[in-house]
Amino acid sequence: MALLTIQPSGKAVEVAAGATLLSAILASGESIRHKCEGKAECGSCHIFIQEGRKTLPRIQKLENEKLDTLVGVSSKSRLACQTLMGEEPVTIELLSFV
Ligand code: FES
Repeated sequence: MALLTIQPSGKAVEVAAGATLLSAILASGESIRHKCEGKAECGSCHIFIQEGRKTLPRIQKLENEKLDTLVGVSSKSRLACQTLMGEEPVTIELLSFV
């Protein structure tokens, strides 16, 4: 388990290593769009990793290809549905509100 802090609300929750950030965000009660239900097809779960980026598993091909199609992508960008929690604390920023 490691601490996931969700901005802008500042909510912090303990998340098991290997859980997707999308499932952790939804379980915390925060809202995030996820139109394709986690298939890396829609890009609506785009988030920024503010802290702890290097502790997360590397971006895989499917996620990378979808990120390449999105507007506003930066080096902090990940798809919440494709990013697995690691063993270290992470802070993320939600980019959309539903
Ligand atoms: S939910 Fe569609 S890309 Fe993540």
